[in-house]
Amino acid sequence: MDNKQIAITRFGDEDVLAIQSNSIPEPGAGEVLVKVAFAGINPIDVKTRSGLGWAADQNKDKLPWVPGYDISGTVVRCGEEAVRFQVADQVAGFIGFPLKGGGYSQYISVPESELSYVPPSVTLEAAAVLPLAGQTAVQALNKAQVKEGDRVLILAGAGGVGHLAVQIAVAAKAEVYTTCSEENLDYLATLGAHAINYNFAPVSERLEDVDVLIDLVGGQTALDALKCLRDQATVVTVPTITAEMICEKAKLLGFHAMGMLVDPDPEQLDTMLYMVGVGLLKTEIQHVYPMNEVQEAHRQVATGHTRGKILLDMQC
Ligand SMILES: NC(=O)c1ccc[n+]([C@@H]2O[C@H](COP(=O)([O-])OP(=O)(O)OC[C@H]3O[C@@H](n4cnc5c(N)ncnc54)[C@H](OP(=O)(O)O)[C@@H]3O)[C@@H](O)[C@H]2O)c1
Repeated sequence: MDNKQIAITRFGDEDVLAIQSNSIPEPGAGEVLVKVAFAGINPIDVKTRSGLGWAADQNKDKLPWVPGYDISGTVVRCGEEAVRFQVADQVAGFIGFPLKGGGYSQYISVPESELSYVPPSVTLEAAAVLPLAGQTAVQALNKAQVKEGDRVLILAGAGGVGHLAVQIAVAAKAEVYTTCSEENLDYLATLGAHAINYNFAPVSERLEDVDVLIDLVGGQTALDALKCLRDQATVVTVPTITAEMICEKAKLLGFHAMGMLVDPDPEQLDTMLYMVGVGLLKTEIQHVYPMNEVQEAHRQVATGHTRGKILLDMQC
């Protein structure tokens, strides 16, 4: 049996994404072989495929490269010394980050330390939404030390990271404001946020006295949002490309400002899977594409206007 993977042999537009066939890998010591059901697509996959950013720079001599950091699926074989999981367990993980990737595969051997058990109450689709985006949301809110009663502004609440960050901040009893286009106003209101249409007017004309800014957009949009903050407020800016510029400006204005790079933490994924299982966290999936439509899936993520996540179905 073949292991189909989506690989790039050079950087470029969506057309460089091609299906290749390999043999199914054997799990090494401490690894399990996962039959991948769904692979999540993140903006970093699109950026790296285009040859932009540090992950592309580090991988340029290692092509062909299989993208993908988010997987959910079923354990089909256990390597020696793998003790946490058994065959038929359902698992999810934020794998191979930042350089190895590999998630756009039908089968992949993964160190079991990178995986979380998916409880029966959580679908494999929902599990594939959470790894990179969910851990980014949690880590950004943790860095900002969001607490009960804080007025928190989350730019881009409707995206992969944003829809989870909004819900986690609401669960922490923060007063949550978020920006989106008109199409997403009702959706974000149902998640418990005060939603602000960024096309109507800059957010700085609509909001003040904000304690924490979680920036998921960057650039001029983030600079404008700094005008909403109270003295001594905290800024966490997540897009890496403009982080330095935004932190510099924010610090000049007297704010506590920091960028971040998400760090895989399976325990955070365990917690989010539990929250989804008991109904405390809702995952949003705009569309699931069959793996042979990966080019279309990348085109959608590249629009920057996906609600929730885009997944690849790796078994059809
Ligand atoms: N540093 C790290 O470790 C790290 C980790 C994860 C992600 N990131 C970065 O963080 C950013 C967000 O990631 P993501 O996965 O959430 O992206 P995403 O899912 O592609 O975000 C799409 C969302 O952005 C919203 N949006 C677009 N322009 C906007 C604007 N001007 N104002 C408000 N909302 C806007 C869209 O809402 P509308 O359709 O309503 O416009 C859409 O729902 C990306 O730049 C990503 O590369 C960095």
